[in-house]
Amino acid sequence: MTRASIELGDVTHHNLKQLKKINTVVFPVFYNDKFYLEVLDSGELTKLAYYNDIVVGGVCSRIDSSENKRRLYIMTLGCLYPYRRLGIGTKMVQHILNYVERDGNFDSIFLHVQVNNEGAIEFYKKFGFEIVETKQQYYKRIEPADAHVLQKTLNTKRNNNNNNNSSSSTTQQQTNSQNNSSSSSSSQQVNGLDNHTNAKPKA
Ligand SMILES: CC(C)(COP(=O)(O)OP(=O)(O)OC[C@H]1O[C@@H](n2cnc3c(N)ncnc32)[C@H](O)[C@@H]1OP(=O)(O)O)[C@@H](O)C(=O)NCCC(=O)NCCS
Repeated sequence: MTRASIELGDVTHHNLKQLKKINTVVFPVFYNDKFYLEVLDSGELTKLAYYNDIVVGGVCSRIDSSENKRRLYIMTLGCLYPYRRLGIGTKMVQHILNYVERDGNFDSIFLHVQVNNEGAIEFYKKFGFEIVETKQQYYKRIEPADAHVLQKTLNTKRNNNNNNNSSSSTTQQQTNSQNNSSSSSSSQQVNGLDNHTNAKPKA
């Protein structure tokens, strides 16, 4: 039997509606036209996932430069329910990991997940993401409204330089990074939420 193929493809004007459809079905959150216009221009940061040439998933991410950090924010990453546990999510995360590694200049990758989304939390933990913060009432119209911030800190030139240049103790550095992470996540909440309306009931 031939092995199934899992491929990623570019998002273009021609297939943007497919990405919208995937996100509408997979996420309890509605993303508006501004969101899709922005991802259309984001090159490798946005991809459709194909399983044997059928669109079954998508990833949308963007660069977040708040709080003096350069971070990759995963806005959406999901695949249709019948196609889960087949490696499609892995293909998309791996693409993001490869992107940040090639770039070499990101501090971390982060995203928000609803606190009850245990499957996604397990999935991201497999790739070295950790819960670094829990935001109460992050979502406006879905339950539970609280979100975990999942983050993977990257071992990059940028982080290494920051560590070497710092004369303060590791403990101090950890405290700063926690504070930064917390405050950037707060601004991220605004940035992340201004593109969508939490109006749809949870799938
Ligand atoms: C999270 C999600 C993207 C995972 O996609 P996927 O294609 O099923 O993931 P993979 O098949 O690549 O899974 C890789 C590994 O992650 C872990 N994993 C994935 N889903 C899991 C689940 N529901 N429960 C526990 N572990 C899980 C497993 O270790 C899995 O390996 P295995 O199948 O060999 O045991 C998918 O469940 C999804 O689309 N969820 C809805 C959208 C969402 O919540 N996205 C996250 C916020 S952006």
